[in-house]
Amino acid sequence: MKIKELEKILPGRVYYFPEIDSTSSCLRRKLLEGMVPQGSLVLSDMQTAGRGRKDRFWYSPPGGLYFSLYLQARGEWAWSAFSLVTAGAVIKGLKEHFDLSFCVKWPNDIMLEKKKLAGILCEKYGQDMILGLGLNLWSQPENEVTDAISLKEVLDFAPGRTSLLLSIIRNLLQDYQIFLQEGFSFFHKKLERLSYLKGKAVHISGEKKKGKVLGYTGEGALLLELIDGQKMSFYSGTVRVIEGG
Ligand code: BTN
Repeated sequence: MKIKELEKILPGRVYYFPEIDSTSSCLRRKLLEGMVPQGSLVLSDMQTAGRGRKDRFWYSPPGGLYFSLYLQARGEWAWSAFSLVTAGAVIKGLKEHFDLSFCVKWPNDIMLEKKKLAGILCEKYGQDMILGLGLNLWSQPENEVTDAISLKEVLDFAPGRTSLLLSIIRNLLQDYQIFLQEGFSFFHKKLERLSYLKGKAVHISGEKKKGKVLGYTGEGALLLELIDGQKMSFYSGTVRVIEGG
């Protein structure tokens, strides 16, 4: 990993560890100690206690891309909007290297061939945000996500990490600036085009609701048409596609 190249494009510091418990936990500890500027990155080759959404364990063997970035968030946006904008930027970075059909499963999964390629974890830090990304490059994670995929499975070769990471970070920084200035509306339609769920019948677990996905609201919430025709938006939850629904 060429840390110097990352330092050139990031406004903050870069902390690299061959192995760590969790890049997001590490970044939080560093923030609590003080003196960590915005735009700082913690990066590792493997995690022993990687964390996913809803306190799930994120299995993080060598061969994945694991990082956490400290970003200004101003606290006024729904978290799902941040996740979606992040996913869109990560896909742009991926597309600079691979001509594959990546899409976004609301709120935080990047999908390839109907399987999960990457997960995003947005966590609050005061008014700001710790943004974590775990992306399967070479290895098939054995976590609770049985339908996981790695890039290597599709490409038949192991993609390099540095140039991909640089592309992802560059797109992330750029899109966040736009997001802070223009809001979610700038990304709304583009993200709907990348949506894995649009038009599908789904079940939202926490809310125990079923319906057809219409797209996103102006705040990045998932917009559903329920069975009785009523429209309803969801700010969080785990979505399951109803096969044949
Ligand atoms: C999910 O899909 O549930 C989100 C997974 C996020 C995993 C990444 S890996 C880097 C960062 N550090 C962590 O402990 N988690 C995130």
